[in-house]
Amino acid sequence: MDYVVRPIKSDDVDAVWEIEKMCFSVPWSRQSFVLEVEKNKCARYVVAEQDGNVLGYAGMWLIVDEAHVTNIAVHPLFRRKGIGQALLKALMMEAYRMGIDKMTLEVRASNIAAQSLYKKLGFVEVGVRKGYYSDNDEDAVIMWNFSISRALGLKQGE
Ligand SMILES: CC(C)(COP(=O)(O)OP(=O)(O)OC[C@H]1O[C@@H](n2cnc3c(N)ncnc32)[C@H](O)[C@@H]1OP(=O)(O)O)[C@@H](O)C(=O)NCCC(=O)NCCS
Repeated sequence: MDYVVRPIKSDDVDAVWEIEKMCFSVPWSRQSFVLEVEKNKCARYVVAEQDGNVLGYAGMWLIVDEAHVTNIAVHPLFRRKGIGQALLKALMMEAYRMGIDKMTLEVRASNIAAQSLYKKLGFVEVGVRKGYYSDNDEDAVIMWNFSISRALGLKQGE
C-alpha cells in the first residue's frame, strides 16, 4: 500500500478524532488530542497518510527511560494491510532515537488483534490490571517490550 508514516500535525486532529470515535467504546475527546499535539512535551504521535487522508495513528509518552503507548488505531476499512505494524514500528524507532529502549502499554484482555500485533513486535505479557476498563470492568493486560533495539534488529549506534 502506498502510504507514508509521519509526525502528526495540528491539522490532522479532526481526522484522527474521527477514527478514534470509530475504534473505541470510550473515545478520547477532540480536546485531548489537541493538548497532546500542541502542549504535551513528552508526547509523540504519528499518522499514516495516503493522498491527504489519515488512515491511522499512534502515540506515546516518553517518560524518563520508558515509552508508554497511549493509543493506536487504524481505520476499519484499512486494517490487515500492515499499517498498525508500521505505526508501532515508527513509535519504537522514535523512542530508540530518543535513547529509550523499553516500551509498555495496556490492552483489553479481549483485544486479540492488538495483542497479536504487539507480540509480533516483541512485546510480552507481564501482568493484568483487574477491572481496569470502567465501561465494562474488563481486565487490562500489561505488556512490555524490554528491548526495542533487539525487536527492530538494530545494533548500537544505528
Ligand atoms: C490493532 C490494530 C491497530 C491493528 O492494525 P492493523 O493495521 O490491522 O494491523 P496490521 O495489518 O499491521 O497487522 C500486523 C499484525 O497484527 C496481528 N493482527 C492484526 N489484526 C489482527 C486480527 N484481527 N486478528 C489477529 N491478528 C491480528 C497479525 O499478527 C498481523 O500480522 P499479519 O497480518 O501478517 O498476520 C487495529 O485492529 C485497530 O485499529 N483496532 C482498533 C483499535 C485498537 O484496538 N487499538 C489498540 C488499543 S490497545
